[in-house]
Amino acid sequence: MADDWANAGLDLHVVLDPRHKVQSLERALRDAIDDGSLAAGTRLPASRALAADLGIARNSVVEAYERLLGEGRLEARVGSGTRVRERIAPSPASALAPVTRSTRFELDLRGGLPDASAFPRSAWLAAMREALAEASSASLGYGPTEGVAPLRAALAEYLARARGVRAQAGDVIVTHGFGELLALVARAIATRGGRRIAVEAYGHVSHREVLEAAGLELVPLAVDAEGVDVARLHDAAVDAVLLTPAHQFPTGVPLSSARRASLAEWAATGGIVIEDDYDGEFRFDGRSIGAFQSLAPDSTVYGGTASKALSPAVGIGWGVVPPMLRDGVLAARRRTGAATDAIGQAALAVLVASGGYDRSVRTLRTRYRARRERFEGLLAEGAPDAKVLGLAAGLHCLLELPEGVREEDVVAAGAERGLRFDGLAAYAADRATASSRPPTMVVGFGAPPDLRFEQAVAAVIASIDAAR
Ligand SMILES: Cc1ncc(COP(=O)(O)O)c(C=O)c1O
Repeated sequence: MADDWANAGLDLHVVLDPRHKVQSLERALRDAIDDGSLAAGTRLPASRALAADLGIARNSVVEAYERLLGEGRLEARVGSGTRVRERIAPSPASALAPVTRSTRFELDLRGGLPDASAFPRSAWLAAMREALAEASSASLGYGPTEGVAPLRAALAEYLARARGVRAQAGDVIVTHGFGELLALVARAIATRGGRRIAVEAYGHVSHREVLEAAGLELVPLAVDAEGVDVARLHDAAVDAVLLTPAHQFPTGVPLSSARRASLAEWAATGGIVIEDDYDGEFRFDGRSIGAFQSLAPDSTVYGGTASKALSPAVGIGWGVVPPMLRDGVLAARRRTGAATDAIGQAALAVLVASGGYDRSVRTLRTRYRARRERFEGLLAEGAPDAKVLGLAAGLHCLLELPEGVREEDVVAAGAERGLRFDGLAAYAADRATASSRPPTMVVGFGAPPDLRFEQAVAAVIASIDAAR
């Protein structure tokens, strides 16, 4: 079986002229190599397999391969079959193709991005291997809309233990990241007649777009040193609120305990709370700030993601959804036609249940804490008149700019140095909020790989200096 698979090679779409089989095969391969549809390094099917696919003699395939070998388009290596040769001279057509230019950002310092190079590849591979070895054939079919049972059970246990969430496996719905969960919950709220949703005056732009796309009207609530001003919920006539209680995004403050209590009171009057716990696992100051959900489990949708502790490429998030919204969320998901990849879910179930996910969180917490300290130290030296805020948790901080320096000038100076980052105003829900604070940058210290970290901070400092 494994040998059959290894020998089968690529599937090629080739239309043969029945009168000139060798020539038409040769031409089809040559064209595909020259126009790049067969990329350099691609391994071609074994001659026997391709001959069987095309219903022609094996010799005809061997002959076509040999001509292309002679032209230098293919190369044959013992033990690794026939491949498209690297660095073939460009065809006249590709030489004339227009060059498209765009600003090249080499370092992405937008708020909240994780270090992709820290992805625990070997642990993930081992989890994948174990999950596949143990998967029944039935589990490789279409999976349940709410997600696979082992992952939901593993997450319920993990969230209760690590985040204080009140959850049974039956409450967990697995989605494509927090983004999809939010879209589904927004639709479920709109379907049951909800019209208005409160959001934090600073937040994730795409999340506001997701809410609006579901037909909800946004009502921004101010954010201050205690987090979002939830007192205003009581007379804002909203059906729901989206917020980041553990670590306000992007200002970095946790929701104070007085405000948590006030939020729970509002929820008890029928309001729906959507808790985005996107980086609740990454606190550095030893203060354990549990999930809000445990104060109002019947009214709160708790949302989390593997995008930070593993990678956005895993594409898995989760919701702990109260009974009143569960059917609506699942119905919304069925209507989208989307489902989360069941093999990835099985692998994540193995990783979470074995403690590998916890280990990834702990390793990253140590790594991000060290970065945070280096960031603060380097800035104190290089830009002592800029103020670093919101460093107690998460993968980014706020950098209040020196007197007279404008956000847009620092963004532009950063772009010239290959940096991609935004001013705080870019995260504001409305104009009044955008001009309510002194000019401040949101700087992610998660994403640059370790080796480029100091270069990234130096570029931030140089961008501020250029904008003075
Ligand atoms: C505030 C906030 N919430 C949630 C997420 C995670 O979203 P997802 O799970 O869709 O990757 C992010 C990602 O950057 C974020 O910034």
